[in-house]
Order: sequence, then C-alpha cells, then structure tokens
Amino acid sequence: MLIKKPADIKSSEITDKKLYVNRREFIQAATGTAVAAAATGVLGSEALLRASTPAPHGRKLEGIKKSTFSSDEKLNKWEDITTYNNYYEFGTDKDEPSMLARNFKTTPWTVTVDGECAKKGPMNLEDVLKGKTLEERIYRHRCVERWSMIIPWIGFPLSDFIKQCEPTSKAKFVEFTTLGDSKQMPGLRSPVLRWPYVEGLRMDEAMHPLTILVAGLYGEVLPNQDGAPLRLAVPWKYGFKHIKSIVKVRFVEKQPLNTWQDQAANEYGFYANVNPAVDHPRWSQATERRIGEFLMRKTLMFNGYGDQVASLYSGMDLRRNY
Ligand code: MTE
Repeated sequence: MLIKKPADIKSSEITDKKLYVNRREFIQAATGTAVAAAATGVLGSEALLRASTPAPHGRKLEGIKKSTFSSDEKLNKWEDITTYNNYYEFGTDKDEPSMLARNFKTTPWTVTVDGECAKKGPMNLEDVLKGKTLEERIYRHRCVERWSMIIPWIGFPLSDFIKQCEPTSKAKFVEFTTLGDSKQMPGLRSPVLRWPYVEGLRMDEAMHPLTILVAGLYGEVLPNQDGAPLRLAVPWKYGFKHIKSIVKVRFVEKQPLNTWQDQAANEYGFYANVNPAVDHPRWSQATERRIGEFLMRKTLMFNGYGDQVASLYSGMDLRRNY
C-alpha cells in the first residue's frame, strides 16, 4: 500500500472550501455500509487490509502494438496506479475509488455521440473499439495536485474515433461526459462537484496523435478505479482533463465548461496545460513528486511533450489561458 507523505496536497485543497464535503460526511452519504465502514475503519484491521488491496487483474487485451510515443522511464507499479486515484464519483480520498468502485458495472456500455457530426446516436463499446489498433502508450501523468506517475495505458488515438463520427465544419470543440449513476457512484450524493463530470478539448488537441482513448492498463482491461471502460489521456495536460468512464461525446461550436473550471474558474482553466511557470493560486507548479519516490522533481513544460504540442498554442498567452 502506498504511504502518503506530508508533501502531498490533500484532495480537499483543490476543491472550493465552501463546497468541500469532508470524508466523514462523504462516507455517510455513501451506500453500502460494509464498504463505508471499511473505509472509515469501523470494521477493524482485517477488513481494512482487504479494502486497501489493489485492483484484481482482469482480462488480457490481444494484439497490442508498441508505440514510438512511449516514455522509457521506470513504470509505476500496478499497485500505485490502482490504489492512488482521483475519481470523485467514488470518494474524494485517493484510496476510496479502489474500494468503492469494485462492483461498478462496465458491461454493457453505451457511448452516445451527439452534436455537430454526421454519425450521431448510441454506440456500444464494442463498436467504439471495432477496427481500432490497441497500442501501449507509456505516458507521464501529472496531476494538478503535484504528484505524477508513469503509466502504461492501452488505447488508441482519439482521432480514429472522431473520424468515425464525421464531425461537421462547425465542430470546434469536443465535450466528454462521465456516467452519472448515483446508484453505483456514491460520490454523486454529495455536492462536492456539479455532476456529471464534464471535460472538453479543442478540436486540434483532440485530433493530436498523443491524445488517446484508454481501454486498458498494463496489457489488461482498464480497472474500474482508473476509469473503465473508457477514459481519456492527454499527457501534456493536468490529470483533471483525463475524464473517466465516458458515456457521451458531443461535437460543439463553443468551448465547453469543464467541471473544474465550473467549480473554481480562478484556479482551473479550460486548457490545463502542464506549466511549471504558472502557479496554481494556492501552490507552486514548479515541482512534483513522482509516486514511489521521495524527492521532488522539476515539472517540465507541457509535461515534457513540448516538442510535439507547443505549436498548438503559438501566439497564445499561457498565463491567461491556464
Ligand atoms: N474523471 C471523473 N469522472 N471524475 C474525477 O473525479 N478526476 C480527474 C481525472 N478524471 C476525475 C476524472 C483527476 S483530478 C485526475 S488527476 C485523474 O482523473 C486521475 O486519474 P487516475 O486515477 O487514473 O490517476
């Protein structure tokens, strides 16, 4: 199990104080008393040990290709990647998604395509994946809270999916929405965020070859706490852009209002490009702690992907467009 270090920024600190629901209130709002009790320690050490185990291993994915876009840095362990999560639908503490998302149902799964495109309507997950070549993309993942990981995602370019939807010339942005099922997602019963979770990308960002839809991790189907069955990875942006369990993709003319911007616009913008020179109003973004390491590292501009993506933002003031 991962030991939290004092240098960590609490999840509560990235949330508007007025709206923040503390862990106790959250647990009270959650269903499933056994799980809730385990999370609060009521069931004692045996249950807690069981509660904090990493995701079980899932089905192996076939035909995965290696990618030249992959980082060669040391991978974070399966244990790190599946027990240290941000997924407020399943709790605001890092270990809560690993406990409370265990029974989340990801089959059958429907993604609805809507807005400025020719191919609208519901699609089942099999059709979203059909004809796509799955690749292993080892990406740096940098959370706005100053922690980072190296993660071997399995996915395919979002551009392959977008082409299939045949967007019109009016489609300037893509908006993504997470499932909002309060029966399965206990976090939805607390007002910690305005649900469902929404994210967006400008069309050129969405079409960039680094931007992927993720369906797996470490060669296996994606664990629930990491956003199964389908989530986004945009490695030059802070983690909150990486929306999980996507059920809706909408092509729109106007810039979408993403959840964290809606929550606190002075702290979280639409672009969310990793930028060590632009501080968060409440903390510096110059350094980060790689999970599993003790010392802080320097944060890299665009999370180290500047050569590939800096041109997308030429002429833009990145202090204003944070
Ligand atoms: N997606 C949804 N639906 N709900 C969330 O709370 N948290 C975001 C992002 N996607 C979040 C989400 C944040 S803040 C981060 S850092 C990443 O998911 C974390 O992804 P990981 O748990 O796979 O590391």
